[in-house]
Amino acid sequence: MFVGAARAELDKILARYPHKQAALLPALWMLQDARGWVSEAGMEEVAAALEITPAYVKGVVTFYTMYHQHPVGTYFIQVCTTTPCNVCGAEDVVKAFLEHTGCEDLGLTSPDGKYTVIEVECLGACGFATPVQINNDYVESVTPESVPRILSELK
Ligand code: FES
Repeated sequence: MFVGAARAELDKILARYPHKQAALLPALWMLQDARGWVSEAGMEEVAAALEITPAYVKGVVTFYTMYHQHPVGTYFIQVCTTTPCNVCGAEDVVKAFLEHTGCEDLGLTSPDGKYTVIEVECLGACGFATPVQINNDYVESVTPESVPRILSELK
């Protein structure tokens, strides 16, 4: 992973920090951008590049929902179901996404490979329940009724 242009990019990131370990999050992000997810082998590559243990890398990867530990759909849909959004109907929004994407369950990818839906903790948009993050974009005030339109607008 970290050869050629990717190594140069990692070196630029490393220059910002006093210790290689501090570049773990952006290094993982680079890996995920390149491959779509973070495999065990990928974790080992990151560990080698930063001179830390694979176990430490895994501890970080398994803590954050933003790192995919298996391949995901083209559109990674994260629905906030923390209490403020939950009382505003987030569970029904989750059901609507599962129904309209064809995903059998949370965390599973649709048969066409386009969608993966998960529940997440607070997305920091509590005043706009229910917020949904689709890849790097936010959609606010999502209702079950608006889900088909949101999905049809994805490119
Ligand atoms: S509780 Fe849902 S965005 Fe904060």
